[in-house]
Amino acid sequence: MQFQKNKEKILIVDFGSQVTKLIARRIRDLGVYSEIITPKSINKVKNFSEYKGVILSGGPSTVTKKNFQSIPKFFFSKKIPILGICYGLQLIAKLHGGKIKASKKRREFGRAYIFESKRSLLTKNFYRSKRAVWMSHEDAVTKLPKNFKAVAFTKSSKLTIIENSKEKIYGVQFHPEVSHTDNGKQIFKNFLFLICKIKRKWNVVLQKKRIIQEVKEKVQNHKVICALSGGVDSSVVALLVNKAIKKNLICIMVDTGLMRKNEFKYTYKIFKNKYKLNVKLINASKIFFKKLKKISNPEKKRKIIGKLFIKIFEKESKKYRNVKFLAQGTLYPDIIESKSSTGSKTSKIKSHHNVGGLPKKMNLKLIEPLKEFFKDEVRVLGNSLGLAKDICYRHPFPGPGLAIRIIGNVTIDKIKILQEADYIYINELYKSNLYDKIWQAYAALLPMKTVGVMGDSRTYEYTCMLRAVTSEDGMTADYFNFPKDFLDKISNKIVNSVKGINRVVYDISSKPPSTIELE
Ligand code: XMP
Repeated sequence: MQFQKNKEKILIVDFGSQVTKLIARRIRDLGVYSEIITPKSINKVKNFSEYKGVILSGGPSTVTKKNFQSIPKFFFSKKIPILGICYGLQLIAKLHGGKIKASKKRREFGRAYIFESKRSLLTKNFYRSKRAVWMSHEDAVTKLPKNFKAVAFTKSSKLTIIENSKEKIYGVQFHPEVSHTDNGKQIFKNFLFLICKIKRKWNVVLQKKRIIQEVKEKVQNHKVICALSGGVDSSVVALLVNKAIKKNLICIMVDTGLMRKNEFKYTYKIFKNKYKLNVKLINASKIFFKKLKKISNPEKKRKIIGKLFIKIFEKESKKYRNVKFLAQGTLYPDIIESKSSTGSKTSKIKSHHNVGGLPKKMNLKLIEPLKEFFKDEVRVLGNSLGLAKDICYRHPFPGPGLAIRIIGNVTIDKIKILQEADYIYINELYKSNLYDKIWQAYAALLPMKTVGVMGDSRTYEYTCMLRAVTSEDGMTADYFNFPKDFLDKISNKIVNSVKGINRVVYDISSKPPSTIELE
């Protein structure tokens, strides 16, 4: 990674947590730049005095075993404020003589409630009436290290926040970076501005100029093919790259047959007629259905779709002279959940279409101008580029499309059934003014058939599952609490209008432990 000379920055040491990038995100939201490194690359940092503070992330390791992941002790002699989160807290405690135990009694997953034991700069204005904090740990600190004090506790643990305020070392057992911690941002605010005393110097729109300039320099006179799907990410990429290189951009829309009803053609028209981009539409649905025949394993589906996608792009690119690059709307969370971009031990959850599916030997070089951004930051960029509101605020849609919303094998018939149900659901959300209150909503087709009765006849048809979640960035999510009236109306409408569905269920899981998509 490249280190910036800017002195108003924070160093994040990534021990492999699924949500480390969210720490960077929270810090950016507060207008501060940060850099993430792995414990292994600590020796690449030449000058620690460039940082105003250090954050140690969570991670899957445990300090209760030999050879645990650590940082050199000199970190603590630099007089730079340090905040440990989850594993980071346990590491701080371990390195200062505290005790940590793996304990079934003290482990906490999901929501816990926090209470103050002592006032601290770190918790100034933090506690609110809800007091909910998000936990994900098995190990817990059972004995305070020397010169540390307990700041807050939960029902299961007396040492949920600890501090050595003289040395400016702080540790929190919960994850203040996830949106389900009530007022977690305040912890970062206090750490940055009260403890590290850093200045705000970062914002999303300022990055726009930098990205356009970087694309210009990288591409020069070559041509770029852009994978335009009609979602906000690839749309923003197309507009950004268009600003940088104008007529050397060729946008390709591959109709996989796995998209939502009507959405694709509508987007094609907008980009062609309103933005006057060079867009080519390719109908590839036949080949996608052929390759997906009898495939029901989620990872296999993802890999097949991803590979086929790239193959089609490569084939198309050969029809133009001088094409060297492929522009994609890969985001920060896509990279984190497929493989940690910093190379640390993040566990793999899913192969994201635009990352995991890439063949090793690509003939095109990648341009991924959004890979440092989260979804809502991309929307801010979209707005500043004049992107149509209905595209800019469209719910996220996964690269593999409806194929990962049909559990089991994918057929044209199932796709048609699902498209109809999904169309009714999404339209009803618009009509009821609920669409913009929800981060992502979709219908899925479950692989089981059940018995129903319509008129006086027996039916034996599929089950449609509805999902709607609130989220800030897709990293964590809660199910949306629909009014009963809406659920009644939508269930009735889908069963009455979509032949092939005789039952509707609503998914009430949060992320974690579930994911937003089913596969
Ligand atoms: P999960 O299911 O991992 O989804 O909780 C988090 C967010 O990512 C979207 N998603 C994808 N987006 N390619 C994408 O571009 C993919 O392969 C992919 N898989 C999931 C998902 O819709 C949600 O917004």
